[in-house]
Amino acid sequence: MNSAVISSSDPSLPLAEIQAGLDPLIAITKAGMQATNAIIVARMQSEIDLIPTLASHLIAAGGKRMRPMLTLAGASLAGASQNQMDNAARLAASVEFIHTATLLHDDVIDESDMRRGNKTASAIWGNEASVLVGDFLFARAFELMVETGEITVLGRLAAAAARITEGEIAQMLLAGNPGAARADYFRVIEAKTAELFAAAAETGAMIGGADKALSDDMRSYGMALGIAFQITDDALDYAASSDDMGKAVGDDFKEGKITLPVILAWQDGDEAERSFWRKCLQEGEIGDSDLQEALAILEKHNAITRSLAEARQHAEAAAALAQTWPFLSNGTAEALVAAARFAAERTL
Ligand code: IPE
Ligand code: IPE
Ligand code: MG
Ligand code: MG
Repeated sequence: MNSAVISSSDPSLPLAEIQAGLDPLIAITKAGMQATNAIIVARMQSEIDLIPTLASHLIAAGGKRMRPMLTLAGASLAGASQNQMDNAARLAASVEFIHTATLLHDDVIDESDMRRGNKTASAIWGNEASVLVGDFLFARAFELMVETGEITVLGRLAAAAARITEGEIAQMLLAGNPGAARADYFRVIEAKTAELFAAAAETGAMIGGADKALSDDMRSYGMALGIAFQITDDALDYAASSDDMGKAVGDDFKEGKITLPVILAWQDGDEAERSFWRKCLQEGEIGDSDLQEALAILEKHNAITRSLAEARQHAEAAAALAQTWPFLSNGTAEALVAAARFAAERTL
């Protein structure tokens, strides 16, 4: 049932084609990502062995590297010189470090056991080690930004880091309240997820010498893509397979998280369904068959399909922006169009 739910989001596209949506971005950022990965490996080192051991457990497991690729693509769209591209790689590594740090912290907060197909760092080394290594990576991210010598870029990413944490705190305050307003949910996902996509793309353009119009556009693109990305993530948390995702299914339900599928099902739900959501998400009383029950209710209200349709609207808004960007012979704008669509069609 699960993969059927996801692939039905756009029956006109075969699954392989959807997942291939990231391929053009991977291709055009190949050289830049090699430089970025080398910086990542070099800068996660420390004489305290636990730091590289724990960090490389997560980093070597891969990840899609979408945010640093957006940074590099932003720089190339702006027509960056080789020197500016070298700086963009530092920035891209810094963006991935911020992302990695937030994942380490997020898995502690969400009590998640699985990430990128492996056990989470917190499940292996414990919460304290994960939080501290996350702090280390945040600090390294800021060192790298300083090395770019671009104070405006540093300011943008510092603001983004603060906003991500605000988003995670707002989400914590919203947890357990299934009757929450859509606006509250959107405020959370814009801050905790979309802000970093926005800042990654925007600062890439800035460091490549873009004018304000293009860097503002890149920011709007990243914001819309990021919203699509998180709505999709929240749908996948109920409806995907954990093999595809590399994360456990049903984590959000267990944590009492209020995500778009739940908000939609609550709005259309009868009193019996609402008391089910209250029992599980508010009281935290979750029995063995309750995730199945939740899925059945979501299915009844088409809540997964409707969430994915909303994700696609945001992805299309991002794609529409990218379609207005300067044509480059390496196909940067086209790759950004495909990446935006991938954000809403992905199953991983
Ligand atoms: C996971 O991000 C955190 C969310 C914002 C949902 P990604 O799905 O980009 O994680 P990796 O880096 O590819 O593992
Ligand atoms: C994204 O939210 C978390 C961050 C922005 C760090 P989730 O909690 O949904 O991310 P996953 O599902 O654990 O990757
Ligand atoms: Mg999480
Ligand atoms: Mg999630």
